Amino acid sequence: MSIDKKVRIAHLSDLHLTGRNDLRQIERLDRILAEIVRKEYDHLVLTGDLIDTANPDDLLVVRDALTRNGLFELGRTTVLPGNHDLINLEEELRFYHALNPDDSGRRRRVVERLERFCTVFRPLIADVGDPNVGYPLVKVLHFGGIGIALVASSSVLPWSGSDNPLGARGYVSPSAMQALGGREVAEALAGSFVIGLCHHAYRVYGTDALIDQAFDWTMEFKNRDEYLRAMRSLGARVVMHGHFHRFQMYHADGLTFVNGGSFRYVPDRYGELVIDHKGHWSHRFLRIGENG
Ligand SMILES: [Fe+2]
Ligand SMILES: [Fe+2]
Repeated sequence: MSIDKKVRIAHLSDLHLTGRNDLRQIERLDRILAEIVRKEYDHLVLTGDLIDTANPDDLLVVRDALTRNGLFELGRTTVLPGNHDLINLEEELRFYHALNPDDSGRRRRVVERLERFCTVFRPLIADVGDPNVGYPLVKVLHFGGIGIALVASSSVLPWSGSDNPLGARGYVSPSAMQALGGREVAEALAGSFVIGLCHHAYRVYGTDALIDQAFDWTMEFKNRDEYLRAMRSLGARVVMHGHFHRFQMYHADGLTFVNGGSFRYVPDRYGELVIDHKGHWSHRFLRIGENG
């Protein structure tokens, strides 16, 4: 192993692509992906809301952009779903009937869309022949002797008129939490630098203003503390997420969170995580063309 080796991970979030006609954003996506390739990042992470209105065909636009740029490979890119990938708010409101809340329908729609998501991005989720295609996803990669473990969870909570009226609240299911706590996961991660990945934000505004509190509730990661504990017990050093469209880094209970902002609104800015062979790491946000 070369002790000079550093692993460099690029992070983009919240692309909110609106399909094949979204030409300007597709062009911008190609530009930033080309930059990531040009700067020889070891891996790219996309933390959800890849598309805007949960139309599974729009995911193909993202897949095609990754393919065009040579990034559509298990070892090169990791993706996970956000609420906009799995919930179409208009559709939920159309189906919604106050007297017949249809809980199973809205859960089924999220499950079906997650299956489509996993089908489109299968080569980024599992090896050929591996039947375990889904989340939580544990990916252990070795770059010049440095082991990096990516632990990606789906944090999308199905829509609900009373509990999730904007479809934007987050939740990691009990079965996913249980899977993360399993011994196989701990064994797989041994010796690696562990990075947690999810879509929802541990912290939103978090001020005392009532208007912020109301907004916070609609976007809240419901079991964020349980998730944080799970990440800590896996030895995660950093959690990368999106959802709340801000480029920011913050700390909670000894864990660092990095919010990857939104490509949709700032299409030339991205996050960069650098890890050395001793497990020292640093993070910064930079723009296309900025030296790296
Ligand atoms: Fe978003
Ligand atoms: Fe989101």
